[in-house]
Amino acid sequence: MQTDRLSYIFRARADGEPIQLYFGARIHHRPRYPNLERAEPRKSTPTRPSGEQPELMRCEYASPGRGDYRHPAYQIGQADGSRITGFGYRGYRLLDGKQRLAGLPSTFDDYGDDAQTLVIELYDDLAKASLELSYAVFPHQDVIVRSALFRDDGDADLTIHAAASLQLDLPRADLDLIDLSGAWSRENRLTRARLRPGSQTIDSLRGASSHQHNPFIVLAEPGAGEDSGNVIGCNLIYSGNFRDRIEVDHYGVTRLTTGIDPEGFSWLLEPGQQFQTPEAVLCAGDRGLDGLSRSLGEFYRRHLVNPRFAERPRPVLVNNWEATYFDFDADRLLGIARRARQLGIELFVLDDGWFGHRDDATSSLGDWVADPRKFPDGIGALAKAIHSLGLQFGMWFEPEMASLDSDLYRAHPDWLLGAPGRRLTPQRDQFVLDTGREDVVDHLFDAMSRVIRQTGLDYVKWDMNRSLTETWSAALPPERQPEAAHRCILGVYRLYERLTHAFPEVLFESCASGGGRFDLGMMYYAPQAWVSDDTDAVERMLTQYGTSLGYPQSMMGAHVSDVPNHETGRITPLRTRGDVAVFGDLGYELDVTALDDDQAGEISRQIAWYKAHRELMQFGDLHRLVSPFENDHNTMSWQVVSPDRRHSVVGWYQILNRPNPGHERVRLRGLDPDRQYLVREAGLDAGGGQAGRGDEDSSLALYGDELMNAGLFVPQVFDVFDPEHRSADFASRLFTVDTPDERN
Ligand code: DGJ
Repeated sequence: MQTDRLSYIFRARADGEPIQLYFGARIHHRPRYPNLERAEPRKSTPTRPSGEQPELMRCEYASPGRGDYRHPAYQIGQADGSRITGFGYRGYRLLDGKQRLAGLPSTFDDYGDDAQTLVIELYDDLAKASLELSYAVFPHQDVIVRSALFRDDGDADLTIHAAASLQLDLPRADLDLIDLSGAWSRENRLTRARLRPGSQTIDSLRGASSHQHNPFIVLAEPGAGEDSGNVIGCNLIYSGNFRDRIEVDHYGVTRLTTGIDPEGFSWLLEPGQQFQTPEAVLCAGDRGLDGLSRSLGEFYRRHLVNPRFAERPRPVLVNNWEATYFDFDADRLLGIARRARQLGIELFVLDDGWFGHRDDATSSLGDWVADPRKFPDGIGALAKAIHSLGLQFGMWFEPEMASLDSDLYRAHPDWLLGAPGRRLTPQRDQFVLDTGREDVVDHLFDAMSRVIRQTGLDYVKWDMNRSLTETWSAALPPERQPEAAHRCILGVYRLYERLTHAFPEVLFESCASGGGRFDLGMMYYAPQAWVSDDTDAVERMLTQYGTSLGYPQSMMGAHVSDVPNHETGRITPLRTRGDVAVFGDLGYELDVTALDDDQAGEISRQIAWYKAHRELMQFGDLHRLVSPFENDHNTMSWQVVSPDRRHSVVGWYQILNRPNPGHERVRLRGLDPDRQYLVREAGLDAGGGQAGRGDEDSSLALYGDELMNAGLFVPQVFDVFDPEHRSADFASRLFTVDTPDERN
């Protein structure tokens, strides 16, 4: 298989087992690769009659129990209790394009982007099982998407105990593992460490992809940086328990498997039934992390995100959560909406607390009917009033959950996940619905559809505020209980599928207490996601910067909120909060009715500026220039560039102000070296406090090569008596870099 810059080579050995020969930068196509196959026998290791030594093989999809002591890609239990299998090559199919999978979020090639799908057919005669390994090749983004499909072709049951979506056996161990880990409110912190002998895993057993570990990982050559070096990116199109296992063996081979976490999981296959793994995305290149992120961003836009929204500019929104929490009624909301409209906001989002009798987090989840105390004229009336202001209307749901104090729970106690006789473990006073059940999904579809129709809403924020516990389903027989967590997520996908089909114009935003389910499975249905409950500008620099490694900025909901920040208590300038949030889908999450004139003026200008640069900020090519995870951990800078390289915006941020600092030049990327650009410091604020902002005289005409090789001078002297908070800490600068005479 070849893409524009990548080759992936494997073959079937004489006994039919597929072995991996190469994955990396593109090399010439040849009918055979004897050099790649060369091997020497070793002592003290199992040796098959054919001379093959399984420990030395690099496998396409490693089988268990036959002398390859590394972790296998799959395990299948058979009627006699054996898990030993060996699938041999039977044939292949080569298909033009890429079809979506049924029942799982998956990639596609709707735009005729030259994708092809190779399906390798394998069979195990003793287990009477077939296995298909699929490889969808997307040549122009250097992406190969893999998945596996098992089928029981015999007359006895089989049990799948593990089924990876992909495996790579790389012939080297001198690689760095880069991953995104964190916690609630501080998601996706970037860590990088050299691989060491043995297994290292990135995983989640929470029933969701989790705040703690994101499924996206990178394997990078030690010297690889943002703008150069060989890197491999891997991600799973899945939102439940996952595991990326990276195992470095004693011969210096690195085995990567990614897929559903086998811990606590199994799936029963009755004769004739099949099991499809989620898809996993592999992308590789020699253009460093920057190039990897851009290839992936383009790939998701063209081949994963709902085509209706993939390139549609996202509205500037106001969300009432941090403004009111549960304390609101229709009048208060309308006040916020009116003021928001004056500021230039386009979408009003009604968050948690509009339904049942929910005045705090202890009740009503599951009762998706508006609270008559808060909406005496009904929710339809509020929607109508919002729409007549010229705003779009959005609403919050948490479909997968129920409160014990809810009509839903009282009517259907068996709809909760929960093991018989075991006390349920609450989180945020709420419990998880068994969305693996068809009747639960039907009920949720009806309840949500009713509200969507009543209000004609334009946007849904789909939240999910707790992890799974006591994962046991009243609808499943004992032998199928280990399927419950996966069935729950399949039910979530079914519900998303039905809603997005029934209401194709509704924009969905996914959320799980912030970024607890920020993954590609969600991205397929919900083109944008709430990155974190922490809206503090400094924390957001870290979160958004880390997230940008694996996900495009159009997926990141980024809001300006009030100070002191509700999570950190930190006071940052409004300007900095804006300068961070504009590198995403901009929103406001504060009481806009309480703004003074200066603040309102500044926010209006932020919004007007953002609207003028929206496509660039949401869909432009992102370059990370200065990492807040490196150097002195005090500065960060990034840049977006338009596809035609005529326009760019550079954001530069510092955490603490340093006295008497050195001169700072930041080297830009992605520009046309031969083009002249006009560089201006963007005028977001009222002009107070920041030298040069919005000042025409501060504009400079510079060639792209100078900006990229010599760098842009970033003034370091800040007004230490900044009127907003009497400090120059947490300051930022935003520059526009444009081809003259076009945009400013
Ligand atoms: C968690 C979300 O991340 C918040 O934005 C908000 O919607 C709350 N849930 C509401 O309960």
